[in-house]
Amino acid sequence: RRRIFSGIKPSGHLTLGNYLGAVRRWVQEDQHRADALFCVVDLHALTVEHDPARVRRLTRQAATLLLASGLDPEQCTLFVQSQVDEHARLSYLMECTATDGEMRRMIQYKEKAVREQARGRSVRLSLLTYPALMAADILAYGTHDVPVGEDQTQHVELARDLAQRFNQRYGPVFTVPRATQPRVSARVMDLQDPTSKMGKSHAETAGIVYLLDEPDAVRKKIMRAVTDSGTEVRYDRTEQPGVANLLDVLASCTDGKPEVLAEEFSSYGALKGATAEAVLEVLRPLQARHAELCADPTYMDGVLRAGAERARGLARPRVDEAYAAVGLLPPA
Ligand code: TYM
Repeated sequence: RRRIFSGIKPSGHLTLGNYLGAVRRWVQEDQHRADALFCVVDLHALTVEHDPARVRRLTRQAATLLLASGLDPEQCTLFVQSQVDEHARLSYLMECTATDGEMRRMIQYKEKAVREQARGRSVRLSLLTYPALMAADILAYGTHDVPVGEDQTQHVELARDLAQRFNQRYGPVFTVPRATQPRVSARVMDLQDPTSKMGKSHAETAGIVYLLDEPDAVRKKIMRAVTDSGTEVRYDRTEQPGVANLLDVLASCTDGKPEVLAEEFSSYGALKGATAEAVLEVLRPLQARHAELCADPTYMDGVLRAGAERARGLARPRVDEAYAAVGLLPPA
């Protein structure tokens, strides 16, 4: 059976970008077609300045939202990264496989390092080594497919390279993974700045729809989305990025095709109204289920405990094998 692994970082409230770019497919396809593991990657949230109480809260919230979105603990394994030691253990071997230059070439590192410095903060070393931990997340499970949005493909490519390099040097320990992407909405753009990605850690929030936003806020954000100077609704990602983004969002919420949907609208206002309603259709049941789950935190605890236990059992033998392969003594 194919193995799927993917993760989400509790560094902010989850956005429509996370949902349409990744989570929706985990729910609708991945958990049914393979042995799928989904992980709230809390260690990754410590790579920039953070508030411990906030990370703790966001970790639980992310896990709850994943269940609320429709991940079914009977169908897949849901767990928290730091509760399974093998991630940190294998990350070190990945740091010993990757090179400094390779890490510095990562687009996300470059962007985030600049952002931290602009805020007058120092850059944590873990921000640089982030992709080694991410490779460990993936490789520990013998993962075949990694369903992610477009912004994560460079990291998954690096995980591929590291798996191949490790196997060449030390023997065939790891499966070589590949990234998979959704047909539409692999990259949901900020509603106020349709040339940059909708991201949960942006300071400016007017262009970001959060999964837990009130319906009125969602409507307002979408109705005020920046569109382009023309008046005609066309699907053209380079010439009309604002309109194209709305069409993508509408298409993925309704399982339609953006090119086809473009023909149904004669004004930007009508397109925005329809997009807002489509997003609310998706968010309504999700928010209701989230509220139910919050009322019963022991259920969530049980799901995460069982998830961590299963994940540990899957990862440990492979990580032990990797330790032995590089020349470390077996567990004493
Ligand atoms: P993160 O937490 O930033 O995002 C989680 C998932 O959401 C996707 N995504 C988007 N897709 C489309 N449009 C957007 N605007 C958008 N914003 C986010 C991301 O591509 C991702 O699939 N490094 C990862 C977490 C991670 C991971 C892993 C993923 C750690 N280890 C192992 C897969 C496998 C990250 O920061 O994702």
